[in-house]
Amino acid sequence: MFVIMGASNHSDFTRVQHDYYATDPQAVEELLKVESFDKNILEPCCGEGHISKVLEENKYNVTSRDLYYRGYGVGGMDFFTTTSWHEDIITNPPYKYAKEFVEHSIKIIDDGKRLAMLLKIQFLESVKRRELFEENPPKYVYVFSKRANCVRNGVFTNYPSSAVCYCWYIWEKGFKGEPVIRWI
Ligand SMILES: C[S@@+](CC[C@H](N)C(=O)[O-])C[C@H]1O[C@@H](n2cnc3c(N)ncnc32)[C@H](O)[C@@H]1O
Repeated sequence: MFVIMGASNHSDFTRVQHDYYATDPQAVEELLKVESFDKNILEPCCGEGHISKVLEENKYNVTSRDLYYRGYGVGGMDFFTTTSWHEDIITNPPYKYAKEFVEHSIKIIDDGKRLAMLLKIQFLESVKRRELFEENPPKYVYVFSKRANCVRNGVFTNYPSSAVCYCWYIWEKGFKGEPVIRWI
């Protein structure tokens, strides 16, 4: 059933090419109610701009890029070729490479700068991510009391609800304390 809903990661068969799942803009609105960011933000895998547009409506300057051009931002930009970004990064990365996106983002931002990633709650588990969390614990994890949705190809009407629990993870480069869980 979850595969039919486009919410499963058990099979690549139904995974949209290049891991394109658009973020519900409401999830970004909720984030901005509890966190503020640097004026200039990088959205390194912007898709059709579902995150970028909300940030821009809230007066942020957003640099929007993606490996594939989907009608928004600049296409043909592999995030792993970006070697520095001096302010904050906000995105919902391709889940298959989420760990690599987190690691690369932390590597390229300046100390004290922040990274907000929309990720599944299961990202907290697994042996392969243990070291990441020990070396770079997130400062906050925001759990949605009402589930946020990410949908294949950005067609929200086809997938009105979600079988997946997404959270906003906030990293602050250099933070070594205990993460705090909050509910939004
Ligand atoms: C889960 S979708 C999210 C799209 C958008 N951030 C949003 O929240 O609506 C992931 C996006 O990452 C892009 N992507 C995949 N690999 C990438 C890479 N190496 N560099 C930049 N973008 C990449 C895909 O093309 C896709 O648009």
